[in-house]
Amino acid sequence: MKALCWHGKGDVRVDTVADPEILDPRDIIIRITASGICGSDLHLYDGLTPSMEAGDIIGHEPMGIVVETGRDVKKFKIGDRVVVPFVIACGSCYFCEKTLFSCCDTTNPGADLARAAMGHAPAGLFGYSGMMGRYPGGQAEFLRVPHADVGPIKIESDLSDEQVVFLSDIFPTGYMAAENAGIEPGDTVAVWGCGPVGQFAIQCAWMLGAGRVIAIDRVPERLEMARTHGKAETLDFDNDSIHERLIEMTGGRGPDRCIDAVGAEAHGAGSMEAVIDRAKQAVGLTMDRPGALRQAIMACRKAGTLSIPGVYIGLLDNIPFGAVVGKGLTIRTGQTHVQRYLAPLLAKIEAGEIDPSFVITHRVPLEHAPAAYEKFRTKTDGCIKVVIKPGMDGSDLVTPGNESQAVNLNDEAATGLSPDGGMPPVLA
Ligand SMILES: NC(=O)c1ccc[n+]([C@@H]2O[C@H](COP(=O)([O-])OP(=O)(O)OC[C@H]3O[C@@H](n4cnc5c(N)ncnc54)[C@H](O)[C@@H]3O)[C@@H](O)[C@H]2O)c1
Ligand SMILES: [Zn+2]
Ligand SMILES: [Zn+2]
Repeated sequence: MKALCWHGKGDVRVDTVADPEILDPRDIIIRITASGICGSDLHLYDGLTPSMEAGDIIGHEPMGIVVETGRDVKKFKIGDRVVVPFVIACGSCYFCEKTLFSCCDTTNPGADLARAAMGHAPAGLFGYSGMMGRYPGGQAEFLRVPHADVGPIKIESDLSDEQVVFLSDIFPTGYMAAENAGIEPGDTVAVWGCGPVGQFAIQCAWMLGAGRVIAIDRVPERLEMARTHGKAETLDFDNDSIHERLIEMTGGRGPDRCIDAVGAEAHGAGSMEAVIDRAKQAVGLTMDRPGALRQAIMACRKAGTLSIPGVYIGLLDNIPFGAVVGKGLTIRTGQTHVQRYLAPLLAKIEAGEIDPSFVITHRVPLEHAPAAYEKFRTKTDGCIKVVIKPGMDGSDLVTPGNESQAVNLNDEAATGLSPDGGMPPVLA
């Protein structure tokens, strides 16, 4: 089959690899129909994640059709349409029984490496490093899904792939971020980062009772999406002095709840700290640039909550932990316990409370995934969220001489479609 493989920093390629096989009676194999590119994939793409190996198949936001089932699988049969959580969980260990699925104790074959880095080993994840179990990922034509009766959710309605695929990660991640923020009715919630995770954190903050949402980024179309779809007030960290503005907008108190949806690769609008972070990262002294986290800690009101869905990798420098203690902040974080949220969030989509496809700007065939990674990384061409569709024939949608480019279906010139136009038949 064809699969997107990591070959080093800034180097992902569509390779021909062996088809996945059932290795355990609890496995299923799915044919992928849609697969997102996530901000977490960028940490791999940018070479920041230890224990990656050339040839690793990446991607962890997949959905598709079941083509094979192991003999012990009870919930699924061939032909079922499923969304697969990025977390691999056994369903029966100490942590799974508490629905702490991303802490599953039994699914990470890289546990020794993880323990050396973290003290304990979290669950295995699709499309990640050796430390997370090196499970082949979902930016591929086919995927082996271990513990199938515990992970995937069957889609029985006629919702489109684009409406449900983000149950695999970013919708539950935004929801858990808002839940972890401990929002009380009427609270002011500040969200750093208006990428896909930030966008869902904004949506879910409203669902959980926020009275006001302030979103921070610098990419114009992401700020625009936060205002239009997210009904948030926005701040641009290139032009606004974030701390001063947040304090001023909240009458001196600071936001009640702060969500860091940026993680390890914060940009810093030329601040000295940001320059030092970047220099240390460049020479390998640190893997993380925690500028957004520092800001969130400093801005958060006394006894407020800091929720951190953004991924950090290693040891963070210059974190004002005195402020955390001095102000009595609560910090909650973690890889999302995706399995916990699948059914309730699917119900919200089915009820029409939210249509997660609002975040998609680019749809590409697998062959164009490398170019799409670069666009998503550089935040160019209006790229907010890419969905890879392995079965899609991109040829009709690509302008001559531009073969390696991802196609922006909002771009009328590239597609011949009006921005609101229906999907071309090739994507149906
Ligand atoms: N916890 C989980 O289970 C989980 C799941 C999915 C993604 N994530 C993490 O969430 C984070 C965001 O993912 P994404 O897909 O939205 O990525 P993304 O790269 O598309 O978005 C990050 C956004 O942060 C903005 N940003 C950079 N520096 C900033 C700053 N100083 N202040 C405010 N905004 C800043 C960028 O402009 C960008 O729009 C990543 O770290 C990713 O690894 C975590
Ligand atoms: Zn992800
Ligand atoms: Zn478990």
